[in-house]
Amino acid sequence: MATLRIAADADAVAEAAADRVAALVRATPAAVLGLPTGDTPLGLYRRLCARHAAGTIDLSRVRCFNLDEYHPIAADDPQSYHAYMRRELFDHVTVAAWRLPDGVAPLAQVDAACSAYEDAIAAAGGIDLQILGIGRTGHLGFNEPGASADSRTHRVELHTMTRSDAALRFGGLAAVPTHALTMGMGTILAARRILVLVTGAAKAGIVARALRGAIDPAVPASLLQTHPAVELLLDPAAAAALS
Ligand code: PGA
Repeated sequence: MATLRIAADADAVAEAAADRVAALVRATPAAVLGLPTGDTPLGLYRRLCARHAAGTIDLSRVRCFNLDEYHPIAADDPQSYHAYMRRELFDHVTVAAWRLPDGVAPLAQVDAACSAYEDAIAAAGGIDLQILGIGRTGHLGFNEPGASADSRTHRVELHTMTRSDAALRFGGLAAVPTHALTMGMGTILAARRILVLVTGAAKAGIVARALRGAIDPAVPASLLQTHPAVELLLDPAAAAALS
């Protein structure tokens, strides 16, 4: 059963998330983090940068693996998740290692690149804390509706709603990549602990389906109900449809 915490607002969600990361690295300095991109974690990353600058958090031994990356996309493309992670976090804090799925792997080598990503996570000892958002489709990472519960890192076609949610950032729908590489649902659910951050009224419906609805691959986030150590941090708007 997931632990649910409704914070006062989106800032309080970000503050609580930063507290969770801080507590983890105090207890386990070489922790392995699974990290998301998107709008929701920006407040968390700002706080981690600020705490690092203030010397109140030490991330220097942490290893980080991101959930997903568009495919194909160059690492230095400003819309790549690689560039996002540099901009929002890794240009400002020092960690021991960070990695995303390989956005430039040639098609013929995608399977090998995805296996190598899984191998790297395993070699690091597995993910201690996977931080996640939830997309309006119910996706986790880019595991769109229908994703199988035991999938590992693989290439996926993006849902139309996911692409249209990204269109503004890309300057139009036509520029949004059609495919991506993502940790699979099995990769995500293998994390020892999962922290889910959700803010805003646009997510209220999918949060209710994920938490209160049936466990169903049509709503990938509902598979979180099968994990023994999930905490959800919501703002009141995202929690509005929970009874
Ligand atoms: P968002 O994305 O934080 O930009 O809303 C969440 C997600 O798609 O998982």
